[in-house]
Amino acid sequence: MADTPMVAMRGVQKHFGSLHVLQDIELDVARGEVVVVIGPSGSGKSTLCRTINRLETIDAGEITVDGEPLPAEGKALAQLRADVGMVFQSFNLFAHKTVLENVTLGPIKVRGQSKSDAEARAMELLRRVGVDSQAQKLPAQLSGGQQQRVAIARSLAMEPKVMLFDEPTSALDPEMIKEVLDTMVDLAQGGMTMIVVTHEMGFARTAADRVVFMADGRIVEQNTPHEFFSAPRSDRAKDFLGKILNH
Ligand SMILES: Nc1ncnc2c1ncn2[C@@H]1O[C@H](COP(=O)(O)OP(=O)(O)OP(=O)(O)O)[C@@H](O)[C@H]1O
Ligand SMILES: [Mg+2]
Repeated sequence: MADTPMVAMRGVQKHFGSLHVLQDIELDVARGEVVVVIGPSGSGKSTLCRTINRLETIDAGEITVDGEPLPAEGKALAQLRADVGMVFQSFNLFAHKTVLENVTLGPIKVRGQSKSDAEARAMELLRRVGVDSQAQKLPAQLSGGQQQRVAIARSLAMEPKVMLFDEPTSALDPEMIKEVLDTMVDLAQGGMTMIVVTHEMGFARTAADRVVFMADGRIVEQNTPHEFFSAPRSDRAKDFLGKILNH
């Protein structure tokens, strides 16, 4: 249904031993919405992302993607991982496969596409992220920014319903950050549902529909970027913004 949230988290709790890393998380992400998650180191941002494609299990609560509870295992879990694309700080490309092979592997294995269909679609996506001329190279022959754009194309090749980004530009040299952010802005404008953990406040201001601020495993406040950056309500958010905007 069109008004079912693409991602819904209800009463989510997660512990690592005695550490309560996700506390009473309530979060709805609408279809086509772009949510930026920010907060201090250790506040649970990565863990939150990882629970959505079940790289981490939760202790209590419920998570649904497109109205369906997360599957526990098997084929359904592989399908979920295809529906929920994830791009990390480190690109995690297969080192011994070409760029093109990296992008076609999932669609052939998981989505059952023919090699020629998968390659045609992969070339389209590589063109979209601006690295189609690199298709026959190995990842190590590309710059960090190019590798990250290949990683984005690889996720997109699975036709995901939602894309999670966990600090996708934080391992990149400054001159490469923009090209990756531009790719993400393009995706956002194309209507992709996105959850993005980032310290790039320019991206948050221009591309996010909503900023979610986390501290100590909780969502402390959330608002439009304009409201959040101009008038943060909590002391935690004020303190955090003071540190990141004035350094
Ligand atoms: N696999 C794990 N085992 C034990 N503790 C963990 C594990 N993963 C994360 N933690 C702890 O859980 C807390 C939340 O970690 P998380 O990585 O989600 O934070 P974060 O907000 O993404 O931080 P950063 O900005 O540094 O990436 C931290 O205290 C971290 O040390
Ligand atoms: Mg993190």
